[in-house]
Amino acid sequence: MAIRKVLVYPDKRLREKAQPVERIDDSVRRLLDDLAETMYAEPGVGLAAPQLGVSLRVFVIDLKSPEGGELLEFVNPRFLSREGEITWKEGCLSFPGISEEITRHGRVSVEALDRNGKTFTIDGEELLAVAMQHEYDHLDGRLLIDHVSFLKKRMIRREMAKLAVERGATTDAEAG
Ligand code: NI
Repeated sequence: MAIRKVLVYPDKRLREKAQPVERIDDSVRRLLDDLAETMYAEPGVGLAAPQLGVSLRVFVIDLKSPEGGELLEFVNPRFLSREGEITWKEGCLSFPGISEEITRHGRVSVEALDRNGKTFTIDGEELLAVAMQHEYDHLDGRLLIDHVSFLKKRMIRREMAKLAVERGATTDAEAG
């Protein structure tokens, strides 16, 4: 297991559409372990593989992070149903310091594979529904900033640019 670096917006790798996992092997299980360890270390309640620069349809969630409650691992997830509406103040490890109210479905049912390749389904409401939709978004290169108003987008871009300067990061994001 290893703590890996979480990509920060506007890193262009966060915009890639992730590929389905074709075979669940030890490398995928290692990725799941690294996602969990990094999520607990940050801490966050969810983390998706594209945030580590790995373009695969994999994410983890633990609503009780960092103490650790129930670790949920998703490989090749898909929505079986999405209903209702909920507004939640969301954060994202790829947008340090930003939190925005976002409206999503309030109840979702997700089918995915576990670390042994076994199919499971999970129904979620409230924070679990929000987290599953947020992490799923990452697999399609969709980010928190895509859910907010034009003015908020501008504000977030400005904040993130400021942060990049503070971190001494090179923003190659607009390069391609
Ligand atoms: Ni996120």
